[in-house]
Amino acid sequence: MPLVTTKEMFEKSMKEGFAIGAFNINNMEIIQGIVDAAQKQNSPVILQASSGAIKYARIKYLMKMIEASVEETTIPIAIHLDHGAAFETCKMCIDNGFTSVMIDGSKYSFEENVEITKKVVEYAHKNGVVVEAELGQLAGIEDDVNVSETDAKYTDPNQAKEFVERTGCDSLAIAIGTSHGAYKFKGEAKLRMDILKSIKEKIPNTPIVLHGASTVIPELVETCNKYGGDIPGAKGVPDDILHTASISGVSKINVDTDLRLAFTSEIRKTLSENPSAFDPRKYLTPAREKITEIVEHKIKNVFGSANKA
Ligand code: G3H
Ligand code: 13P
Ligand code: ZN
Repeated sequence: MPLVTTKEMFEKSMKEGFAIGAFNINNMEIIQGIVDAAQKQNSPVILQASSGAIKYARIKYLMKMIEASVEETTIPIAIHLDHGAAFETCKMCIDNGFTSVMIDGSKYSFEENVEITKKVVEYAHKNGVVVEAELGQLAGIEDDVNVSETDAKYTDPNQAKEFVERTGCDSLAIAIGTSHGAYKFKGEAKLRMDILKSIKEKIPNTPIVLHGASTVIPELVETCNKYGGDIPGAKGVPDDILHTASISGVSKINVDTDLRLAFTSEIRKTLSENPSAFDPRKYLTPAREKITEIVEHKIKNVFGSANKA
């Protein structure tokens, strides 16, 4: 199957009540780990690259590796720009074969966000590419987009309706209490499901996206810390809350931090247990397998996208 946009997978997700994982990619092992998991679970999957990932891996390399993953599999795979901060970044990705882009105008005023999103939508749609936009502000640090914790603002359901109507965006990222990175909650993890519900009532046909949705899997944090890491008190969104979101109208769930933790914890463990090892394949192989294990778990037990390819 060739690379696809997210249009059909989102239609199915809204009709059947499940979510699709959007996993951040940075190198070959991460791509292979994710795609192996999606194929094993016969699930649609979204691979997403941030501006930082594109700078690191280089866009041509990324696209060739993604092409290879498409040739080797039978599942729908979309390639998406995560947190595009400017029209030019979106255009570059569209021109290089991305099937979906995000324009993140959440740091701007409502009117400015509408304006920049419309401009991206116009160019993307002309080229058969779909657009994710963001309304409301997450706490934490987004690539090229800084929002301090005190500025975190939940998405306003009425504004969401107006925004989607005026911009023509294909999906909408909302703020209901998640944040990026490994430190999402100081106390109990809690999302504003009531806001999600009212947004879905206002825009029932618009796929909803949840950013900052890693679980910050405790076992992975523990392994990191056991083998020389120092990430105390990390906390994310538990599986049961993500499952509820998946069956309550969230169509795309973004995961980066859990993949970073999976990869790094396994490398730390392998190197620590094998001090004489220096062949990168020795530690990258289990790291890649750990990514597959974590992504399979999310697809099968949390998002509900297994066998929805
Ligand atoms: O939302 C941000 C993603 O986790 C990407 O992070 O910009 O460091 O690649 P990055
Ligand atoms: P996490 O940091 O929770 O993995 O969120 C990733 C994300 O939202 C990418 O856009
Ligand atoms: Zn994000």
